[in-house]
Amino acid sequence: MLDIQNLTVTVQGKRILKGVNMHVSSGETVALFGPNGSGKTSLLHTIMGFPGYTVETGTIQFKGEDITGMSIDKRAERGIGMAFQRPPAVRGVKLKDILRMCINRREDVDETAISRYVQKLNLDDFQDRDVNLGFSGGEIKRCELVQLLAQDPDFTMFDEPDSGVDLVSIHLVGTVINELLQRGNGPCKKIKSGLIISHAGHILEFVNADRAYVILNGRLHCSGNPRDILDNIKSKGYEGCITCLR
Ligand SMILES: Nc1ncnc2c1ncn2[C@@H]1O[C@H](COP(=O)(O)OP(=O)(O)OP(=O)(O)O)[C@@H](O)[C@H]1O
Ligand SMILES: [Mg+2]
Repeated sequence: MLDIQNLTVTVQGKRILKGVNMHVSSGETVALFGPNGSGKTSLLHTIMGFPGYTVETGTIQFKGEDITGMSIDKRAERGIGMAFQRPPAVRGVKLKDILRMCINRREDVDETAISRYVQKLNLDDFQDRDVNLGFSGGEIKRCELVQLLAQDPDFTMFDEPDSGVDLVSIHLVGTVINELLQRGNGPCKKIKSGLIISHAGHILEFVNADRAYVILNGRLHCSGNPRDILDNIKSKGYEGCITCLR
């Protein structure tokens, strides 16, 4: 699904990602751990194609196609989606309008899907509000997910979907992420893939990630079992974790 080779990225002249290699298979869900400022969000923004993230070396391949220089909208059309860590408020754009734009690109759903999606995320009363404007922290996280349900990407990146979410809502957030990633649906063949950033790993109690990476100072250091890596980080810190699991 996703193959990143030797990716080095600068932002305003500062090198933030340094020779990153990452692979996410079809049907695989991968977690990404790392301290504040290590480059996690920058990696997701680079995969999504935000301007300002200059690729100095390396390539990003998605479904076998080189997307390194492609615009955000083309990447979204090819099936990449993202839930932001801190999404902006979009003044003048109502939630129901952005959801309608997302589903209009699909052939498998009609307008009735919008009400199913907002009900699923307890956002019924938010349809006529401007996207994220005045939303609480937890409401913003649910608003990100409802847009992803409407978009239905093949590869979805979640930037700290559990931060600021209350103990009851996190169950809902986990259920919807599982739905987006075709997890916990019995024997059906999984095609969708995911990349989830989490600090404490709360979301991984609901979403069973296959593998995890650790990023430190812009470099990916190891890949392994998410629970083992989290336990190592908790007991040894990030630096200790990478020496242990390398
Ligand atoms: N426009 C910019 N100009 C200068 N530095 C930047 C810019 N954008 C990001 N950075 C720096 O890049 C580094 C990585 O930031 P990033 O947001 O990717 O970290 P993160 O791993 O997601 O951290 P957190 O866990 O706190 O969300 C940080 O030191 C940040 O200050
Ligand atoms: Mg971040």
